[in-house]
Amino acid sequence: MATSARVAIVTGASSGMGEGLARDLVSRGWKVAMADLQRNEPLEQELGSHADFFECNVADYDSQVGMFQAVWVKHGRIDAVMNFKENIRINAVLPGIVPTKILPQAMIDAVAPECLTPVSTITAAYNMFLEDESLTGQAVECSADKHLFSHQPEFLDGAISKRAVTCWDPLFKMLHYEDSGLPEAIP
Ligand SMILES: NC(=O)c1ccc[n+]([C@@H]2O[C@H](COP(=O)([O-])OP(=O)(O)OC[C@H]3O[C@@H](n4cnc5c(N)ncnc54)[C@H](O)[C@@H]3O)[C@@H](O)[C@H]2O)c1
Repeated sequence: MATSARVAIVTGASSGMGEGLARDLVSRGWKVAMADLQRNEPLEQELGSHADFFECNVADYDSQVGMFQAVWVKHGRIDAVMNFKENIRINAVLPGIVPTKILPQAMIDAVAPECLTPVSTITAAYNMFLEDESLTGQAVECSADKHLFSHQPEFLDGAISKRAVTCWDPLFKMLHYEDSGLPEAIP
């Protein structure tokens, strides 16, 4: 039987922004699949039955497929990274300078405090995208405590470039077994 809570796969969940996001999602009632190269046992203990570790190398296709399969076998559902209902929505969270262990302390010290972006700004951006299903194809710049939406650039070759990225529904159906539902799709 599928898990009743929503299930999110968080890559890089053992540290930094992924750790912050895993903790935040658990506090909001999600089950989290922590996909990382290495374990963070204190964090796993803290999150208890709300999170599980899945060893995964996101740079390796087979490793990712194995991880998705293992999460599916365990929970019978995958709601985020970022797969909602019929269609896949893709949004991008663009972090500023977030003081995590990937940055040398000397570098953090060299940055004026107002130029640092806390992990909470990053987790809030993920939550915005998780909760508002109307948001798709968006990129949000996370700068200190602000969320700034980037404007979509114009196509440099107008209608010709646009045609190249317009969905052709027969192919979509071949791959996903349903129409795209996109307003501009070519039937
Ligand atoms: N901290 C910043 O200011 C900042 C800003 C912009 C982008 N980034 C990028 O965001 C990402 C996360 O950064 P962070 O600051 O949270 O770093 P972090 O070092 O605190 O956490 C990264 C986590 O990813 C895991 N990981 C690394 N390679 C992996 C792989 N191939 N497969 C699975 N897991 C892997 C690590 O084991 C670690 O737990 C990094 O790619 C970083 O370059 C960071």
